[in-house]
Amino acid sequence: MTTQSSVVTSNQTGVHKDLESTIKKHLTHRYKKPYRPFSIDLFHRLDEIQKSINKPIILDSGCGTGESSVKLSELSPDALIIGIDKSEKRLDKLTTNNSVYHKNNLILARADVVDLWRMIKESNWNIKKHYLLYPNPWPKKDQLKRRWQGHPVLPEMISLCDQIELRTNWKIYAEEFKQALEFVTREKVLIETLDVNDFISPFEKKYSESGHELYKVFSG
Ligand SMILES: C[S@@+](CC[C@H](N)C(=O)[O-])C[C@H]1O[C@@H](n2cnc3c(N)ncnc32)[C@H](O)[C@@H]1O
Repeated sequence: MTTQSSVVTSNQTGVHKDLESTIKKHLTHRYKKPYRPFSIDLFHRLDEIQKSINKPIILDSGCGTGESSVKLSELSPDALIIGIDKSEKRLDKLTTNNSVYHKNNLILARADVVDLWRMIKESNWNIKKHYLLYPNPWPKKDQLKRRWQGHPVLPEMISLCDQIELRTNWKIYAEEFKQALEFVTREKVLIETLDVNDFISPFEKKYSESGHELYKVFSG
């Protein structure tokens, strides 16, 4: 049985009027929130594994239960897939070993990507592609800074690699993310509507089966 999911409603009717000024501010002032000790420890553990495997990395940030990361690891055996989610509830079935699960070319880790992305950037990991699948929309007008395009970590996240793919069921999120990527990279970014039968993640399945329009924003 499918649980119906309601479409995103918002008091915004288009791209947020403060998007560009918010990004400009984040481009001029580097995000300096100190890393949490837990994140530092976890990063070092991931770093050790990725160095020993030495394959191009595909990041699946906010991977939820990790099902999308499992699929990506099957589709790309020549890459190391790293799925990260901060929710203990979502990842706890697999990450019983101190917040990290590792098997072959798949790693799942419970961590906050806001810390991890910055440490990954400093360590210059070889990231081939970065997926952001169905991030929380934070649809209220005053929640812009919670969306990735309005978050102070955006410039560092974008600089991790050339190929980024974000999927969402909220058109305004897709349009804002496209504008943000184009503003920071000065490269053309595309939006496509998705017609999927082979769902990459549980949220994609849920939204699709509820009849939502799905959008893919991608660069590189
Ligand atoms: C709507 S769910 C989508 C899950 C999955 N990608 C999917 O498509 O089924 C958004 C996920 O992002 C995760 N998330 C949000 N902020 C995060 C952060 N700062 N670090 C890591 N994960 C985060 C949440 O815990 C949640 O699992």
